[in-house]
Amino acid sequence: MAKTMRALAAYAYGPIGNLRVVELPLPEPGPGEVRVRVMASALNPSDGKTLLGKIKLLHAKVFPLVVGWDLSGVVDAVGPGATDLREGQEVFGFHAYSRTTKLGALAEYTVLPASQLAAKPGNVSHESAAAAATVGITALQALRDCGRMTTGQEVLITGASGGVGSVAIGVARRLGGVVDAVSTSANVDFVRGLGVRATFDRSDKAWLARVERQYSVVLDAAAAFGLLAMRKILLPGGTYVSTLPSAGLVGGFLLAPLLRRRCKLVMVRPRRADLEWLAQALRKGLSVPIARVFPIREAAGAIEDFTTIGARGKIAIRVDGGF
Ligand SMILES: NC(=O)c1ccc[n+]([C@@H]2O[C@H](COP(=O)([O-])OP(=O)(O)OC[C@H]3O[C@@H](n4cnc5c(N)ncnc54)[C@H](OP(=O)(O)O)[C@@H]3O)[C@@H](O)[C@H]2O)c1
Repeated sequence: MAKTMRALAAYAYGPIGNLRVVELPLPEPGPGEVRVRVMASALNPSDGKTLLGKIKLLHAKVFPLVVGWDLSGVVDAVGPGATDLREGQEVFGFHAYSRTTKLGALAEYTVLPASQLAAKPGNVSHESAAAAATVGITALQALRDCGRMTTGQEVLITGASGGVGSVAIGVARRLGGVVDAVSTSANVDFVRGLGVRATFDRSDKAWLARVERQYSVVLDAAAAFGLLAMRKILLPGGTYVSTLPSAGLVGGFLLAPLLRRRCKLVMVRPRRADLEWLAQALRKGLSVPIARVFPIREAAGAIEDFTTIGARGKIAIRVDGGF
């Protein structure tokens, strides 16, 4: 077997256009880890932010820097102790958003702990599985763990046309919730098609004043509003969940007891049990809207466009055969 692999890498923080296809040493799995032949990856806002040097905590500062948290592929080598996965098994999952992550998935092979992977459902494509990984688990951990969501509750999701929001709609419905969603006017029809009860158009600055319901959980996937702004549309005891830390969120943590609401920040973690929950949901038809699939040779442009313009749903990257 070749001792090198191709990867899309940056040699310094800076313009995303500096990404190049390079030859790197084939990574070897350590204890508890497996090596995966990557078939597909998917983009998250963290890819562009990390390459631009805006967030240095989500990835080890190792150059050449290979980003790409999400992956779906085939187990290619098993490290000592990683006994619950076998060579040739189709798996999906994501790298931890932490300094322990040294090599991303925009490469022919990547290495990660077996506990961060689960079996990919046979009826789901590698592109869909990769696209679902980070956002699906973020939605699950935000709604179920941070929001303590239970069957029959009403939930509001912002950023509903984006990666986290669009998948969170289906996750919330599978948790038994009734879902309303917020997006810009251009995306209202798209979001409505994902199975929400009502949509709110944030292009109208007064949209929040027109919300007449009170929700058990508000998932602010866009991290744009804050507990203070949303307190009136939250039931007493209800939870506001954000996806990004901010000064406003700290204010929310401090004010929450006075407002008799809860204020939480989701920090997604790859966990086998949650990935198995997601695999089951995907097997049964959980919707993962994919705006476009790009071959990895076009991934630099795709990351640049996603970072500046955004997308409806997810951008998937075909790695196998895509160089
Ligand atoms: N903490 C964690 O563990 C974690 C995990 C995953 C992601 N994240 C973070 O969560 C955020 C969302 O991720 P994503 O993958 O869903 O990103 P995304 O695909 O870019 O979607 C974000 C959506 O938010 C909406 N939006 C943008 N600017 C807005 C504003 N000023 N006010 C209200 N809505 C706005 C947009 O939809 P409309 O224009 O249609 O409203 C957009 O589609 C990102 O910041 C990401 O870094 C955090």
